[in-house]
Amino acid sequence: MSCFAVLLFCFSIREEQAARAVTSGEFLMSSNTFGKLFSVTTFGESHGPAIGCVIDGCPPGLEIAPEEFRHDLRRRATGLSRHTSARREKDEVEILSGVYEGVTTGTPIALLIRNTDARSKDYDNIAKQFRPGHADYSYWQKYGIRDPRGGGRSSARETTMRVAAAVIAKKWLAQRHGISVRGFLAQLGPIVPQGFDWNEVETNPFFWPCQAQVPELEAYMDMLRKSGDSVGARVNIVVDNVPPGWGEPVFGKLDGELAGALMGINAVKGVEIGDGFASVIQQGTMHRDEIRLEGFLSNHAGGVLGGISTGQQIRASIALKPTSSLRLPGRTVDVDGNEVGVVTKGRHDPCVGIRATPIAEAMAALVLIDQALRHRAQCADVEIMCPRIPRGEG
Ligand SMILES: Cc1cc2nc3c(=O)[nH]c(=O)nc-3n(C[C@H](O)[C@H](O)[C@H](O)COP(=O)(O)O)c2cc1C
Repeated sequence: MSCFAVLLFCFSIREEQAARAVTSGEFLMSSNTFGKLFSVTTFGESHGPAIGCVIDGCPPGLEIAPEEFRHDLRRRATGLSRHTSARREKDEVEILSGVYEGVTTGTPIALLIRNTDARSKDYDNIAKQFRPGHADYSYWQKYGIRDPRGGGRSSARETTMRVAAAVIAKKWLAQRHGISVRGFLAQLGPIVPQGFDWNEVETNPFFWPCQAQVPELEAYMDMLRKSGDSVGARVNIVVDNVPPGWGEPVFGKLDGELAGALMGINAVKGVEIGDGFASVIQQGTMHRDEIRLEGFLSNHAGGVLGGISTGQQIRASIALKPTSSLRLPGRTVDVDGNEVGVVTKGRHDPCVGIRATPIAEAMAALVLIDQALRHRAQCADVEIMCPRIPRGEG
């Protein structure tokens, strides 16, 4: 075959692959859609009239009412304590389609939330400046334009719709498989939990698992707010009752998709599955999770082996960077090429990690429902002959 013929052949394969990808929905411009069989497209900006999402592929027959979105949206909301941004949104979900008489019909579900408390003038002074550490510079370099009001599309306001979509995902996962997806704040700046009780996570504004430390957290946050600075955080996610077998080697591995989804949350700079980076200094005899018929003896892997769930608890952890919008003056450049000083006004979270807990739960739930439907599509007829190992210590 001549070089020309080889080139032509390669081109036709690439074209065919691209066409297949487009028609199968694998290749969607411009990455505002997440998931293959339970796919969520979000739209909207922080200070636009509304934000929303379209969920395609939701199984029919699931009861869902607008009130059911309130709990998780409130957990994500600002303005509920002095330790998060003071913006107060009602976050009332309107269900525009895909639900008839309170039950999902299998057709696309459109959800809408109107923005009601935007204060765009706070952003006038930075409309043409690049906040160091924020997405302003990179958005300009990519699109040649950006909506500066409240950070536009790069604002965590967008994650409201991920949380809303995940209310449906969490409900289906719980009803169908008894799965619970829970998260908590595992570190706030230098402070780490000194005790652990799931019951305490929801009783304080930090999602902190040790109530006795809440005064310490409040004092730290008050000090931080007065100083005008911000701080990073760690959020842990724990998923119970995922059956063994979910995940698609090699490019749709469960841990790979979880990592990608969690990394896709604003301000996330690191993701660990199981022991994560602590594995670096572990030895194989310690890290491997030994198996007995009565259960796994440990869970260093975080519930995923070979990209497939083992039936153990799934554990992930994310690192969130400190908020970049600061009222403390910093140095930057503007769109016209001038070196300038920058001061950010407006209402901001001094620690974005505090509100990230329900968002991380949401992304994990969206990955899991998608993987559940994909596993059902490919492997529903497979008969498993080997023993199923209880999760045991893990
Ligand atoms: C829950 C949450 C709240 C956030 N709130 C703010 C904020 O008030 N001010 C800000 O500058 N960034 C905030 N961020 C972070 C920005 O959205 C993020 O830093 C920005 O989009 C740049 O993206 P990157 O940090 O992922 O690179 C928040 C992030 C999350 C997850």
